[in-house]
Amino acid sequence: MGKCPQCSSFNSMVEEIIHDEPAAAKTNVRGLTGRSAPRPIGDVSGDAEDRIHLPIGEFARVLGGGIVPGSIVLIGGDPGIGKSTLMLQMAMEMAKTQRVLYVSGEESERQIKMRAARMTTNGAAGAMPNQLFLVTETNLEVIFNHVGEVKPSLLIVDSIQTVYLSEMDSSAGSVSQVRESASRLRELAKSSGITVFIIGHVTKEGAIAGPRVLEHIVDTVLYLEGDRFQAYRLLRSVKNRFGATSEVGVFEMREGGLVEVTNPSEAFLAERMINVAGSSVAVTMEGTRPILVEIQGLTSPTQFGNARRTPNGVDFNRVLLITAVLTRRVGLKLAEQDIFVNVVGGLQIDEPAADLAVAAAIASSWKDLPIRAEAVLIGEIGLAGELRMPGQMVPRLNEAQKLGFKVAIVPKAIRKGEPYPKGIEVVEVRSLDQALDAAMKSSDPPRGRKGA
Ligand SMILES: Nc1ncnc2c1ncn2[C@@H]1O[C@H](COP(=O)(O)OP(=O)(O)OP(=O)(O)O)[C@@H](O)[C@H]1O
Ligand SMILES: [Mg+2]
Repeated sequence: MGKCPQCSSFNSMVEEIIHDEPAAAKTNVRGLTGRSAPRPIGDVSGDAEDRIHLPIGEFARVLGGGIVPGSIVLIGGDPGIGKSTLMLQMAMEMAKTQRVLYVSGEESERQIKMRAARMTTNGAAGAMPNQLFLVTETNLEVIFNHVGEVKPSLLIVDSIQTVYLSEMDSSAGSVSQVRESASRLRELAKSSGITVFIIGHVTKEGAIAGPRVLEHIVDTVLYLEGDRFQAYRLLRSVKNRFGATSEVGVFEMREGGLVEVTNPSEAFLAERMINVAGSSVAVTMEGTRPILVEIQGLTSPTQFGNARRTPNGVDFNRVLLITAVLTRRVGLKLAEQDIFVNVVGGLQIDEPAADLAVAAAIASSWKDLPIRAEAVLIGEIGLAGELRMPGQMVPRLNEAQKLGFKVAIVPKAIRKGEPYPKGIEVVEVRSLDQALDAAMKSSDPPRGRKGA
């Protein structure tokens, strides 16, 4: 069928042949079976200290502090974003202390070697380790044989869509193959203590190709994302059974591989122009880490009657809401303006705490008045034009202060929490209107605005 009769989307139907399970398998429920005996929780070994140290700090942060032995991790991302690069880099680091098997169904050993050589000569990784084993293979049974021979403590499968089980009729990459192969790999991880990393392809819509159950099978789901035209890559954890989610690691793609960006705020603000209209600085929390980003706004008289809103890095509906509040509560005439919003550096901001900075960037462009260069803006905007306090203000303010910002424009605290840090002037405002006045040096009527 070309079209789904239920949701009307095209080419979304996938053939799945249902077999009679062999008789032996029927008695054996898929999952963690064998050697089961209930034990008191106190007798079960396993502490936080069990994690294996991973020398790539940004990667370890996303995993929750290191590699948990026997865990299974899925890493997804758009084509060509750098998944194989990241995995190979990790493999090379880990192979310094333990045996690593890198199984590729997409690239020849020669290709992988070439990438490894590029990394070692260009700096991202050290010397070529001799505990790293490469194999090009797609048959999962054969892969398990290799695992039995090499006895690695870390197995990398690039990618889950290329491996298959010969006992199943469907082709590699089909829903049933992907699901079944992933379950087998999970059983391997849980029963042997081998850590398994699997790479998965992401469809255009952002879902990992194949069934979403894949995400349920694994312990941790990481996404490598970024603007294809920019060097920054963000590794984000979407699900983590061993650590906080929404934690991000920031990397930069260089010729020698992915290089850690240990101070992302500095990197994202590096190209900021001071005293230009339409630029503001937001402080967003990515997991437990505050990151400062520049937000740019541009308003321009619309040409075709229907004004467009074009956000990049912020949610479209959020921009609509902010624009509506600016129009109704602040009185900016934005109805006949095209509005562009851009988060510099390719970061995707989901947090409402960046609302105020987005609103300020748009208002600043419309008024043609720059926002104070030494100010950051933090706050969620409500429909009445009021400002609401986001969480974790103190770490945000500390980060802003560390980067040399002198002023923070924030919502007025109703409930006093932890005291704010001393080194930064905190301007508390109640409404969006007041925040904009505080952010722009002068609240004079707009000057030099053309065409409105
Ligand atoms: N010689 C080079 N110099 C700089 N960067 C390079 C070089 N060769 C490759 N790259 C970078 O590596 C990226 C490809 O990385 P990689 O193969 O790891 O991606 P991938 O996510 O595994 O892709 P796929 O989904 O196709 O497997 C390229 O997009 C490019 O940015
Ligand atoms: Mg690849």
